[in-house]
Amino acid sequence: MNQATDNPLLQAIALCQDDMVKVNACIHDNLKSDIMMIPAIGHYIVGSGGKRLRPLLCLLIARLFGYSGDRHIPMSVVVEFIHTASLLHDDVVDSSDLRRGNPSANGVWGNQASILVGDYLFSRAFQMMVKDKDMTMLSLMSDVTNALAEGEVLQLSRTFHLTMTEAECLEVIERKTAVLFAAAAEVGAHVSNQNEQTIRNIAEYGMCLGVAFQLMDDALDYLADTEQAGKPVGHDLEEGKITLPLIHAMQQDDELAARAADIAERDGYAKGDREWVRLRVQQCCGAEYAMQRAVDYAGRAKALLPKSGDTELLQLLEDLADFSAQRMY
Ligand code: IPE
Ligand code: IPE
Ligand code: MG
Ligand code: MG
Repeated sequence: MNQATDNPLLQAIALCQDDMVKVNACIHDNLKSDIMMIPAIGHYIVGSGGKRLRPLLCLLIARLFGYSGDRHIPMSVVVEFIHTASLLHDDVVDSSDLRRGNPSANGVWGNQASILVGDYLFSRAFQMMVKDKDMTMLSLMSDVTNALAEGEVLQLSRTFHLTMTEAECLEVIERKTAVLFAAAAEVGAHVSNQNEQTIRNIAEYGMCLGVAFQLMDDALDYLADTEQAGKPVGHDLEEGKITLPLIHAMQQDDELAARAADIAERDGYAKGDREWVRLRVQQCCGAEYAMQRAVDYAGRAKALLPKSGDTELLQLLEDLADFSAQRMY
């Protein structure tokens, strides 16, 4: 088997090729502005090769339910714009200088430009929904953007909160990341006019997949190299983010817990901390523990999919849940 047939993300892109052409055209149409910095930064980040997992989920689910209209195109762009805006803001908050393998927008244009263009993308997403004239959609996405903001603020308020529990960690993950995956999936079912129970199950599928996705992201911060991840790694503790790999490792390694307390005291790494912490977390199988929890969530996601329907699409949605819990990028 070649790589393309093995990788569910590439399979999804191939299957939704026609829709993805329209999605990309819609993205470009909606980045137009006579304020030149907006299309410049917008194209820079959108064109730099994100996975497009959220719009793909929306398209695949609409397809699963036999949707024949075209609202899923702009609505999946809404989801991708909200994601992109949150990345522009997140890289400022996390002082991150690399995104999708390229210098981050804040690294190129500065923090102010990134924040402001992020705001532009958020508001453009809402303009697109107003044009679509569906109050349910507006209500869903306004709740989601609100939860995303709450999640990021909650995470900030727990900076260097070394006694963070697994439950507290999952609370942040659900709010800052998983709700948007839930919405991406829900939108696909909503535009296809599914009944309430079906929509609820599909949204929960997206939520569980999203938790798996972020748990894996947190594992990759301790496992991957920068080139693989396309963004800085070994960065989470330095920024005060207490994630599951570290929580698990600190429970077994008192020296690691003490060093993390020193890092918190100093508000960042001293020379050698990054490598030392990574090694200790690896020795305690911290990332593996988070990955196992991610696999559990992927299993939950798969169990929520409909029991009947196009088998190829259902398989792909299962594979995307597995991908979220096993991805290396
Ligand atoms: C990054 O999301 C932010 C997280 C929720 C971890 P993605 O990994 O989906 O980012 P892109 O769009 O593929 O770059
Ligand atoms: C996810 O958290 C960020 C958003 C939900 C915007 P991270 O801070 O871990 O994401 P990365 O690692 O920068 O992509
Ligand atoms: Mg970040
Ligand atoms: Mg991360």
